[in-house]
Amino acid sequence: MAGGPSGTAEGVSNASLAWAVIMSAFAAFGGILFGYDTGTIGGIIAMQDWLNVFGDFDPTGVLGKETKGMYLKVPDKSLVVSILSAGTFFGALLAFPMGDKVGRKWGIVVSCVIFSLGVGMQLDTKWAPFVVGRVIAGLGVGLISCLVPMYQSECSPKNIRGLIVGLYQLAITIGALLAAIVLNATKDEQSHSAWRTPIAVQFAWAAILGGGMMLLPESPRYLLHKNRVPAAQRALARLTNRPVDSPEVAAECAEITLALEAERALGSGSYADCFKNTALRNGLRTWTGIMLQGWQQLTGINFIFYYGTTFFSSAGIKNPFTITIITDVVNTVMTIVGIQLIDRVGRRRLLLIGAVGMMICEYIVAIVGVTVGTVDASGAADNVAAQKVLIAFVCFYIAFFATSWGPVAWVVTGEIFPLNIRAKGMSLSVASNWLWNFGIGYATPYLVDTSTKGQPNGVATAALHVKVFFIWGSTCLGCLIFTYFFVPETKGLSLEQIDLLYQESSIINSEKYRKQMIAGNVTHAHHGKVETTHTDSADADSEKV
Ligand code: BGC
Repeated sequence: MAGGPSGTAEGVSNASLAWAVIMSAFAAFGGILFGYDTGTIGGIIAMQDWLNVFGDFDPTGVLGKETKGMYLKVPDKSLVVSILSAGTFFGALLAFPMGDKVGRKWGIVVSCVIFSLGVGMQLDTKWAPFVVGRVIAGLGVGLISCLVPMYQSECSPKNIRGLIVGLYQLAITIGALLAAIVLNATKDEQSHSAWRTPIAVQFAWAAILGGGMMLLPESPRYLLHKNRVPAAQRALARLTNRPVDSPEVAAECAEITLALEAERALGSGSYADCFKNTALRNGLRTWTGIMLQGWQQLTGINFIFYYGTTFFSSAGIKNPFTITIITDVVNTVMTIVGIQLIDRVGRRRLLLIGAVGMMICEYIVAIVGVTVGTVDASGAADNVAAQKVLIAFVCFYIAFFATSWGPVAWVVTGEIFPLNIRAKGMSLSVASNWLWNFGIGYATPYLVDTSTKGQPNGVATAALHVKVFFIWGSTCLGCLIFTYFFVPETKGLSLEQIDLLYQESSIINSEKYRKQMIAGNVTHAHHGKVETTHTDSADADSEKV
């Protein structure tokens, strides 16, 4: 269980470690819900029955060859795929009023209810409720995507916090995999249950997350923030498996209270503070979080996960559902590998390696696609070897993402902010993730699909098809340049050391400075956890339960 960014799990009692594991297992359902929800739409819009209900008929026989002439118009496709991300964007921004007013725990429960409402609306056979249902479900996913890591980081022992963040990304990938499996199981049904079943399965994720959260204690930090001391003591007692009146609980409460006092003394922690470039370099950190999450989307990963099914079929590849499952398995398995590399290879280095690896793979897919990946008149690939190379390199590309930009983007976002602006900084960064997610989801059909200009209701597109991978290759070059200039190496450093690193080192020199901090007298190692003489009580206490 060891291996979070702060080091090993040593120093944490078995009882509290067990609780931490249980909590993260429950909270990880937020990731499953996120991954499943974003993973279903691509398959659903390719289903015959769904197209019969929501699609259009093309009498010319040009479109919808595989689906009896039924097809989804480009604007409708863009809308139905990307509207969820519009909801999630606002959900992420709402996460902090929700987390502060309703609380972390109950905020997640309420988000599950909102999400379930949206899921219920998507069972309708009319376009408007279906689309509105996706927006409402999106609000729930956006809220959960912020509140779950927030709750986890406030309740888990510091030494396994990094691993828990990694588990959250792992859960996202498992959610997507489950979506592919369920879609594959129902896709051939010739009734509404083909698409209603995969949608309705989401009630189960919401019930498990919401129900599980009800059984867990509220975040003691939140309770102390609200001056609810006895409730905070009870929550801490449950989290650490100790009596309420034990000296340990009293000491933890005192430390968290001190941390809050120090935090309040640091400033108002307003949104304006997040963008000020004082000695703390908050502006740099906030923009780094916002851009990091944006670049994660610009790797093009969701092109595969949102449009994979339809893209692979238009590239003439047989059995696109099976290919989607393969890509999801690669994503999940390689994420398991990736979360173990973060503390060994380092964040900055993994992001750099991942960007180069993805860039090479995407250029190869583009070059193979435009040169030898031809399709015959029926739309089937007539070059089997090229088709295999294409799929293989898409899989290598996913493997690079899963071992780098997938988990590391979330880990870095969770650790670069000083305590007093961490919540807001994370909210803005996660909202940026969803904004780019939306933009890319919306623009993709216009970039990739065959143009229908000149036909009734026709739409002009760039019709890039496989050439779109030249764009993704180039954006990965952007990821590389961004990481080089903006992402410091933070491996093995405590949060207060990261704070110090931002104040005293340039980003490019961070690796050298980091080593000096660990090797030098300023710090002393304790199983990967390093303490500095500069320990600020606010940040130090934030590390506790
Ligand atoms: C990204 C999602 C993506 C997923 C794929 C996440 O970290 O934010 O947009 O679909 O990884 O595993």
